Amino acid sequence: MNYYGKSVLVTGGYGFIGSNLVHDLVKLGAKVTVIDNFLENTSANLLNLSDIKGKFEYFNACLTDSKVVNEVVKNKEIIFHLAGQTSHTIAMNDPLLDLKANVISTLSLLEACRLNNPKVKIVSASTRQVYGKPVKLPIDENHELNPPDVNAIHNITADNYLLLYDKIFGINSIIFRLTNTFGPRQNMKMNSQQVLPIFFRQVIEGKEISIFGDGEQIRDFNYVTDVSHAFLIGGLANVHGEIFNLGNKNHKSLLEIAKSIIKINGSGSYRLIPFPEERKKIDVGDTYLDYSKVESLLGWKPEVSFERAVLETLDYFKGRGVDSF
Ligand SMILES: NC(=O)c1ccc[n+]([C@@H]2O[C@H](COP(=O)([O-])OP(=O)(O)OC[C@H]3O[C@@H](n4cnc5c(N)ncnc54)[C@H](O)[C@@H]3O)[C@@H](O)[C@H]2O)c1
Repeated sequence: MNYYGKSVLVTGGYGFIGSNLVHDLVKLGAKVTVIDNFLENTSANLLNLSDIKGKFEYFNACLTDSKVVNEVVKNKEIIFHLAGQTSHTIAMNDPLLDLKANVISTLSLLEACRLNNPKVKIVSASTRQVYGKPVKLPIDENHELNPPDVNAIHNITADNYLLLYDKIFGINSIIFRLTNTFGPRQNMKMNSQQVLPIFFRQVIEGKEISIFGDGEQIRDFNYVTDVSHAFLIGGLANVHGEIFNLGNKNHKSLLEIAKSIIKINGSGSYRLIPFPEERKKIDVGDTYLDYSKVESLLGWKPEVSFERAVLETLDYFKGRGVDSF
């Protein structure tokens, strides 16, 4: 992939997916700029980029700070937009924080591009949560939008701004709606709200994995290297104004997932616990994405097996200690 010498910006570059993408871009020889404000309760972590410090330019600023963002977007060929607030429960408890992190930030970025660099290409992250409780499975891009929570409403709004600026102002954008993504550099705190990091932490600490309900909820998962690869493809693709689902055909119940993690780890156990009330209200039941559109138009599909991804993730966190993440 030809990123050598390309000027790119990664928003949220100290976070989970952003930092994995920054590593790939630096390896490919891109001139990388990162903007990140270290929002609390995200995966933002200095350790995520400490091994490549000095190989990218960094702005410690919020995307709503137009003075900084107007300068940062200048002369960039591609912007990878991964900044955001991802926790659905935090969004329900503090909707205005989520509005700022997901909607106002995206609109500020678009305005900075409209005024300073309308020829830039944007590849932006969105979430499968926007589809809500599935009417049919797997969920394709034409599935109705039925946001079950504040975060999903804000992601739909941000997606709509990107599509509008693409159509009206010619700022080329593509949007990836991600399913659950996991791997190195992810927030491993118990408040991360993500299923897999919590399972990984519990198994590494020798604790029982706690599964909500009967564990029969079906999910699909992608390894972060596959997701980063999709962003790299998207950045160079001659396609815009499109939404693509990034899903995985290998969907499993949470119970199966817990059992696989225990097997790959070589030890561990699990227990079923009642669904916490605040999670139950926004849970969407079984859900997994149809990714045939991105496969046929951009040639992307997940490459890393679930087993290899789990093994690599466990090795990563065991080697560095889960408490650092
Ligand atoms: N991780 C997943 O499983 C998943 C699933 C679906 C969608 N997504 C989407 O992918 C994107 C990235 O997810 P992630 O898991 O890497 O998140 P993350 O929490 O690891 O990283 C987000 C980063 O954005 C930064 N940030 C937040 N608001 C900012 C602002 N206003 N200005 C500058 N920086 C800001 C944070 O400090 C953090 O470093 C998000 O948009 C998320 O909704 C992720």
